[in-house]
Amino acid sequence: MKCYSIALIPGDGIGRDVTDAAWHVLSTVAMHSGFTLTGTPFPWSCAFYKETGAMMPADGIEALRPFDAILLGSVGWPAQVPDSISLHGLLLPIRKAFVQYANIRPHRLLPGVEGPLRASDFDILCVRENTEGEYSGAGGRVHQGTPGEVAVETSIFTRAGVERIQRFGFEQARQRRGKLASVTKSNAQKYSMVFWDEVTRELAAEYRDVEVTSYHIDAMAARMVMAPESLDVVVASNLFGDILTDLGAAIQGGLGFAASANINPDRGAPSMFEPVHGSAPDIAHLGIANPIAAIWSGAMMLEHLGEKEAAGMIIAALERATIRGIGTVPGKDRTETITAAVLAALD
Ligand code: IPM
Ligand code: MN
Repeated sequence: MKCYSIALIPGDGIGRDVTDAAWHVLSTVAMHSGFTLTGTPFPWSCAFYKETGAMMPADGIEALRPFDAILLGSVGWPAQVPDSISLHGLLLPIRKAFVQYANIRPHRLLPGVEGPLRASDFDILCVRENTEGEYSGAGGRVHQGTPGEVAVETSIFTRAGVERIQRFGFEQARQRRGKLASVTKSNAQKYSMVFWDEVTRELAAEYRDVEVTSYHIDAMAARMVMAPESLDVVVASNLFGDILTDLGAAIQGGLGFAASANINPDRGAPSMFEPVHGSAPDIAHLGIANPIAAIWSGAMMLEHLGEKEAAGMIIAALERATIRGIGTVPGKDRTETITAAVLAALD
């Protein structure tokens, strides 16, 4: 029997609530599908930071490396630990250390979910560059606390980095509807974004079966609202992708539905699966967080592990639950009600 070892990092706030729910669904599906999942929990979080002075131990990355995948809830509790410490101590280093350069986020309406738009027939896959660009971490501050204070944060775009994310996008487009939208701001940013456009054009010559269109980020934001059905795969830099995927979450009914996978396509290190939403401290442990995004992210994990049928079972169960209205209205159903409905809808 196949056995996958999963590192569980529930993290902060509702991260714990939704990871429990997702794990419940994943273990149940595994049992019925003839493979096993063993979960090893890691308590790394803002509470852990308060106790130890670090978001994870110094050898945290090495501790995670042997796992087949990582399931993460969410990181951050700004009232206790500044986000600039917590995110740079746990979430972002994992994405970089394990070269999870492709962050993929599907945006479509589950049946029964009413989005804010008139358009309902859209199915977008955002492919966000996840290791460099605006999140490179290159920069510094000088003359701190003086009127002459300066802060610099430099975006870094490498040929290797842009090429691999675009290639990933092209491959996704090939498996979907054959359309790729590349997002930049090359009318204003004349070095990095012009470079991105150039690399995209070079690659397009190799993928003649894929229809490529370049958009500026501002125009893409409008298009996702006005004509989301015209989009298939959308590839964007780290920060642009971050912003567009919150917009994507909004048009699919809210952050409670937005799933995400941080993929290392070369499989040289574990990939990480996490909902797009944050830790929502205000509703932590009240039992009212929507676990759908986390469960969907879990399905993406199974898909990545090669358990496509099991992944499909979870998506089908989610749809059977939402079509009955379960989990579709913010705050209406409790976390356990939604989880139970998904479990009951499993084939
Ligand atoms: C996300 C989040 C993170 C990001 C934050 C918490 C650093 O917003 O996964 O979209 O910007 O990548
Ligand atoms: Mn985000």
